[in-house]
Amino acid sequence: MTRRFYVTTPIYYVNGAPHIGHAYTSIAADVLARWKRLDGYDVFFLTGTDEHGQKVEKAAQDAGVDPQTFTDAVAEQFQALAATLGLSNDDFIRTTEERHKRACAALWTKLVEAGEIYLGHYEGWYAVRDEAFYGEDELTTNAHGIRVAPSGAPVEWVREPSYFFRLSAWQDRLLAHYDANPDFIGPHARRNEVTSFVRGGLTDLSVSRTSFRWGVPVPNDPAHVMYVWLDALTNYLTATGYPDADAPRAAFWPADVHMVGKDIIRFHAVYWPAFLMAAGIPVPRRVAANGWWTAEGEKMSKSLGNVVEPNALIGEFGRDAVRFFLLREMPFGNDGDFSRRALISRLNVELANDLGNLCQRSLSMIARNCEGRLPAAPNPPAEADVGLLAQAQALPALLGAAIETQSFHVALEEAWKVIRAANAYIDHQAPWALKKTDIVRMGEVLRVLADVIRHIATVLQPFMPDSMERMLDLLAVPAEARSLAGLATPMMDGMTLPAPVGIFPRFVEEVA
Ligand code: ME8
Ligand code: MG
Repeated sequence: MTRRFYVTTPIYYVNGAPHIGHAYTSIAADVLARWKRLDGYDVFFLTGTDEHGQKVEKAAQDAGVDPQTFTDAVAEQFQALAATLGLSNDDFIRTTEERHKRACAALWTKLVEAGEIYLGHYEGWYAVRDEAFYGEDELTTNAHGIRVAPSGAPVEWVREPSYFFRLSAWQDRLLAHYDANPDFIGPHARRNEVTSFVRGGLTDLSVSRTSFRWGVPVPNDPAHVMYVWLDALTNYLTATGYPDADAPRAAFWPADVHMVGKDIIRFHAVYWPAFLMAAGIPVPRRVAANGWWTAEGEKMSKSLGNVVEPNALIGEFGRDAVRFFLLREMPFGNDGDFSRRALISRLNVELANDLGNLCQRSLSMIARNCEGRLPAAPNPPAEADVGLLAQAQALPALLGAAIETQSFHVALEEAWKVIRAANAYIDHQAPWALKKTDIVRMGEVLRVLADVIRHIATVLQPFMPDSMERMLDLLAVPAEARSLAGLATPMMDGMTLPAPVGIFPRFVEEVA
């Protein structure tokens, strides 16, 4: 039986250029996708752009171009970023595509047929920045005397005819769903926030607008465009070929995990499952929400001019270092601070010193003292060899369990425990001294190290695909043996290894 796995990122608004926060959720999703492929799954990894709504329409107006021209240009930046980050996405969806409008219309029609949508009149507060409706009780007044939503976004009073979705009828069924599926919302700390919001009572949701045009038209009532969140959430179905039940990717539904930021958990864990249940469509298995990055201690914002721009960062440090830093520094779900100092420190200590040196020391000794050929494994192995090899062999299971719950920082810590243990093993075994006293044992120690490095490099491929590819090249591991299952095939005694090269150079900050 094929094991399938479907993972998504949020589709990003094209109102502005991408920053490190967008990059983070995408990289986390990419690690998940790559890990599952490594573990033999048939993976569908989707990312894309959210191109409709008032916010995007306004951004286009400000730029003095029509919305389609505007979204084409910004969507291209997000596509370029996906390539720069090394995302292994299988598709990139844009909500202005025909296939998507068709899926939205199909879902809408289903909801109408099910009696879940009715025509009414909306009167209330709306925040364009969040593209969200808020109740009076949720609002506060900010330092400038402006009425704002809990997110800080200014609200405006909206009064217009609107279609409504009967969200109020779904409260009990949503709560029952959370109860029956304790892993539906991750990390677990986020569950309470969602359940208490739903327990607090749900009101019917306005799902169409008439005061602007930039959206998917409502079937049979073109005066209305669909609420941008109904449109946006549907992207996850569109990409599977919905509504065609025999589309090649139809079997990927329901999605295994929607990776999102904590700012949009309500849309994914409340509205989305309610829409789906109402339409008789299976609900995604999990919604996993990451925390918030600040930059050098401050909220990132265009007006502060402190937005961390991923392209420049990757240009300077390389994409693997940036990917590693983002997933290592901030426990998924927590908030974290992005600082140049922290990045350089992790790069130099954990990548250059710990992992880079381990590889360099071991492989250069093989090159110099074993004619560049892989020495034979110890037979029988010493106690220290058995201990270290067992730790390395445990990595796939340990990382797998951590990644299953999006605990990427834990996964990396597990790998680093073994990296540190391997460095301690070299220091203790001192192969450079064995060279003079026991050349056979020296070879055995180096072989143990090569086996351990192979395990480490294999499990770290999803995090740092380029550099781990180079590390596995240095060990002459054939392409087909680089999966988790491939670890069962031992390396060949005596095989020639390429000349070792450094993988993680130290970063030296230039002094002005
Ligand atoms: O909300 N720290 O799009 P968006 C961490 N179009 N993550 C961050 C971040 C930060 N400082 N800033 C952004 C939308 N993100 C909708 C989504 S999905 C059907 C529609 C990440 O462009 C985080 O994942 O505002 C957040 O949820 C997402 O970018 C929001 O991107
Ligand atoms: Mg946003």
